[in-house]
Amino acid sequence: MSFTRVVKGGTVVTPERAVRADIGIIGERIVAIEPELDAGGAEVTDATGHFVIPGVLDVHVHLELPFCGTVSADDYRSGTRAGARGGVTTLIDFAIPYAGESLSEAADNWLKRAEGKSLIDYTFHICITRWDEHKDQIAGMVERGFTTFKEFMIYESEGWQSDDRAMFGTLEKMRELGTMLLVHAESSRVLDELIARHHTPELMRQYGARLHALTRPNFIEAEAIQRAVFWSEVTGGQLYIVHMSTAEGTDIIRAAQARGVPVLAETCAQYLVLDDSVFGRPDGHLYACCPQVKKPADSERLWRGLKDGEVSVISTDTCTFTREQKAMWQGDWTRIPMGMPGLETLLPLTYTHGVLGGRLTIEELCRKLSTNPARIMGLYPRKGAIQVGADADLAIIHPTATRVVDPQTMETNADWSPFQGWALAGFARTTMSRGEVIVDDYGVVGREGRGQWLPRRSAGIAAETAPESRQHAGDLRTQRSPVAAGAA
Ligand code: URP
Ligand code: ZN
Ligand code: ZN
Repeated sequence: MSFTRVVKGGTVVTPERAVRADIGIIGERIVAIEPELDAGGAEVTDATGHFVIPGVLDVHVHLELPFCGTVSADDYRSGTRAGARGGVTTLIDFAIPYAGESLSEAADNWLKRAEGKSLIDYTFHICITRWDEHKDQIAGMVERGFTTFKEFMIYESEGWQSDDRAMFGTLEKMRELGTMLLVHAESSRVLDELIARHHTPELMRQYGARLHALTRPNFIEAEAIQRAVFWSEVTGGQLYIVHMSTAEGTDIIRAAQARGVPVLAETCAQYLVLDDSVFGRPDGHLYACCPQVKKPADSERLWRGLKDGEVSVISTDTCTFTREQKAMWQGDWTRIPMGMPGLETLLPLTYTHGVLGGRLTIEELCRKLSTNPARIMGLYPRKGAIQVGADADLAIIHPTATRVVDPQTMETNADWSPFQGWALAGFARTTMSRGEVIVDDYGVVGREGRGQWLPRRSAGIAAETAPESRQHAGDLRTQRSPVAAGAA
């Protein structure tokens, strides 16, 4: 075979195992994985002494998001360069309709932001923010190639909040269409009450940014997850809980999956490696994200959920704000723009604290960062695994060499990082997207705008457990079909 590129000498993590192998590529696709390939006249990428892993899919990202009175600071140029440097080759952002906009107009807006700027491949979850207006537009969006939808149980002031009626109705539609609803699960009325009780000048002077954590106890997330799971159970609609941060939430997901509810859950790197002691720091307000980081026991439970299978995906919820933007808070925690940078550090954090920390094997890391997100979001087998026929999306990482996180040398527009000064292994020495080297020697070399929109036809557990993909299902549980709402 006459290859265009051969990746030689690395330890390749395939869906089955980590093995010493060469990868033959023609154009954008992987065409061979063999112990030894003759490169002939092909370009050779030397991976000796490195792991070659599937490109990471970060399926929870907000670039250029108007939010909290400002706009998140990473756009499709800086955000996707940051992703590439962290081995991310695909991202999924959220298309959120402005007031009066249809779902289709929201998708058009977000497609325009990415076009001509994105270095890596991308698509969008479509946010349903006004159920009565949007409900009849859902099927049309599926026709257009969007198979995942999103509702927020909070953010009334942003105009994004969905109530139980909307969630129930959307989950019914998800069941009908074979698509999946993502939910931000926090209990809004009780949260608002706790915020109102604490919103006094005395308490703000006394506790500062710690009020962010004090007003969001774990039950705020747990109650909302329980309720969303209940609507999934009675409707049979596929549900995916985003950015899960609590031990209680993880227990609820485990119990629901055991009784066959079609629910999956993701957590984010920050919930695995940070805890709420950060809010006691002089710059603690920088760490405000929503939901906020919790206690070390929550992180441990989430790690265990990843190992045992109830947590399927690790993402970032990247929503970058600079120090200047964060300074808008002026001592009032309710005014902090909520979110943190994350695309560039997802793989290094998960590799260092997961694999080198003895919590995940390298194969498990690849499932949580690549294979599971690709399957669940309807992008498998094109994305998510190193196998013949897949896009040649690869990250090549050194097993032990560390680099210190330093915002000065990073691609993100953030002038700070929650992980500043941390020595992490797992930055991408080389990132390849559809057969093209876009990061070389830890620096971005790829051309802006080369990233492509990825249309999809499926999503969720149904896609995951399709017979042809079940053999590699790994830690995803096999689900039995729940009884449809109203059925005997
Ligand atoms: O703090 C966060 N996560 N900002 C983005 C919006 C959201 O809830 O995901
Ligand atoms: Zn959210
Ligand atoms: Zn988010």
